[in-house]
Amino acid sequence: MSARHDVCVVGSSNLDLVATAAVLPGPGETVMGRDYAEHPGGKGLNQAVAAARAGARTVFVSAVGDDTAGTGLLAVMHGDGIDTSCVATRAGVPTGRALIGVGDSGENSIIVVPGANATVEVDELPAARVVLAQLEVPLGTVHRAFELARAAGATTVLNPAPAQTLPTELLALCDIVVPNEHEVELLGGVDALFALGARAVVVTEGSRGATLHRGGAGNGAGVHIAPFAVSPVDTTGAGDTFCGSLCARLAAGDDLVDALRWAAAAAALSTTRAGAVPSIPLAAEVDAFVTAAG
Ligand code: RIB
Repeated sequence: MSARHDVCVVGSSNLDLVATAAVLPGPGETVMGRDYAEHPGGKGLNQAVAAARAGARTVFVSAVGDDTAGTGLLAVMHGDGIDTSCVATRAGVPTGRALIGVGDSGENSIIVVPGANATVEVDELPAARVVLAQLEVPLGTVHRAFELARAAGATTVLNPAPAQTLPTELLALCDIVVPNEHEVELLGGVDALFALGARAVVVTEGSRGATLHRGGAGNGAGVHIAPFAVSPVDTTGAGDTFCGSLCARLAAGDDLVDALRWAAAAAALSTTRAGAVPSIPLAAEVDAFVTAAG
């Protein structure tokens, strides 16, 4: 299909309020933190930035509030060359916020307060080869976006995060599903997704890499996508970097396995830096990293 954009991302935009601590607190616990920082984030924005930095012409469907956080996030989108014509600014509504704790081993815990993300809606979808969504905006919006994407002949990719059960009507509109191990269990397993029509399921496994399962008989255990060795300082946004990079490479015509290897490299690199959006690498960095890794 011919499309003005390579990738359309439908999703959230957040200001991330990040505290680091040696160990993350458990329920009922208080721990002393070390540093505090604010970064652009949100699963949708992270994925849109990852697609753009991977070289895709990217359009974003999202919403921010009419506050300084919203103005700042729009500036980030423009800085990365993302088409913001479908990013709404909602009067009197706060921009989404994420309260994030990051521990010394790079792991995180996140509470998202949706704000303007709860108002994201889709009437028309910009033409794109690949349409990518996650679940920090209303489910009805994701459903409508995928209906429109399917009608236009685009490939639909769902990252079902944050984890939740989903209506089969929505899952039946997904060409490729990219869950983590917990999310795929909640969705009933890989075979359930194939029964609903998915062409491929990519289960992300953190530092162990990812496994690609393809629909059809005889595909056995799937293809393991090996991890790239790095020393992580902050894993926030690594899954988003993986999804956005994957879609950019698919839109560019890569085979699924090649696209996944490149996305795994981008995600690994992102864990070596703090923050979500600030950690997402440019295509040239990923290319150099892949070459150096052999
Ligand atoms: O996936 C990481 C993202 O989750 C953070 O940037 C935060 O905003 C939450 O949406």
